[in-house]
Amino acid sequence: MIRRKNEIWQLSNELVTPKPAFLNRRQIMKAAGALGVTALAGCGQGSASARQMPTEGALAAQETNWQVSDDLTPYEAVTGYNNFYEFGLDKGDPARYASAMTTSPWNIEVSGLTDEPREYSLQDLVDFDALEERVYRLRCVEAWSMVIPWVGVPLASIIERLRPSNDARYVQFETYLNRNEMRGTRLRVLDWPYVEGLRLDEARNELAFLAVGLYGEVLPKQNGAPIRLVVPWKYGYKSIKSVAKIRFTSEEPATSWNQSAPNEYGFYSNVNPNRAHPRWSQSSERIIGGGLLARRETEMFNGYEDQVASMYAGMDLIEQH
Ligand code: MTE
Repeated sequence: MIRRKNEIWQLSNELVTPKPAFLNRRQIMKAAGALGVTALAGCGQGSASARQMPTEGALAAQETNWQVSDDLTPYEAVTGYNNFYEFGLDKGDPARYASAMTTSPWNIEVSGLTDEPREYSLQDLVDFDALEERVYRLRCVEAWSMVIPWVGVPLASIIERLRPSNDARYVQFETYLNRNEMRGTRLRVLDWPYVEGLRLDEARNELAFLAVGLYGEVLPKQNGAPIRLVVPWKYGYKSIKSVAKIRFTSEEPATSWNQSAPNEYGFYSNVNPNRAHPRWSQSSERIIGGGLLARRETEMFNGYEDQVASMYAGMDLIEQH
C-alpha cells in the first residue's frame, strides 16, 4: 500500500465536529426509534420489501455493548481522510469524487456454493428495522487508526440467509465497478474490481459486520455506500467497500492486495504488532484526529483477541499473515 507523505491525517481541533453534534444526532435517532420511524429520509410506508432504501439522513439503530474507551474520531476525519482507490490515491480523493458513484438502486449478486444463488436488492438482504450501532477501532495497515461508530447488521446474519452449502469454506466479496464513475480505476494500482475474502468461520464471527451507516446516518459514498464490510481485528483493507458481489468458494479466494504484493499483504491480514510490514513497523499507530503527536501501541488483533484468537489456534501468525 502506498504511503503518502504530506497527508492531513491530523486535523486540528477547531475543524472537527464536537461530540455534542453527534449526541444530538443520536437523540434524533432515538426519537425516530421511539416513533417507529426506520429512517428519517427516503423511507416509505409498507412492508420491508416494498420500502425504499434510505440514501441519506439518519438511521435508527440499537446501541450495543461494542464500544471503544477512546474518543470517537471526528466525523470530518472519518469522512474526509479515506482510502478508496477506485476514486484516487489521495486521502481526500474519495470525498471529492465518490459522489459520482450510483448507489441506488443497489443489487448484490450472490453466487458460488450456496443454495440461494441470485441477485438480491439491498433491502432484501438488510433488515433496516434491525440495525445495530457498534463502535469499533479501524486499524489501517499504513499504521494509523480511527474509532468509528458504525451502523449495520452482523455479517453472520446475512451469511445465514444466503445458505452456503456444506462444501463452502470461504466467502469472497467484490466491490462495484463502473469505470466511468470511478476515475481512480484508470490507474492500474490494483487489478480492478477490488476483491476481498474471509474464511467462513471468520465471516460468522460475532465481530464481523456489514455497515450501511456511520455516526447515525446513511454511509457516505467515500466510506463505501451503500454497504461495506467491517472486520475490526484485521487491517482496514479487508473491510471492502461498496459490496456488489458475494461468492462462496471451497478454495481460498483471490484478494486484491495479496495479489498485488503477497509478501506484504497476506490473506489473513490480522492486525499483529509483532509482524512488521516489510517497509515499516506495525508496533504502534497514529491516532487520526487526535493531535499531531497522538499515537498508541498497536494491540494484537487490534484489541479483539478475546473474540477471535481461538480461530487461529495452532497457526504461525508471522508466517501465515
Ligand atoms: N475498499 C475498496 N473497494 N477500495 C479501497 O481502496 N481501501 C481499504 C478499505 N476498503 C479500500 C476498500 C482500506 S486500505 C482501508 S484502511 C479502509 O477501506 C478505509 O475505510 P474508510 O475510508 O471508511 O476509513
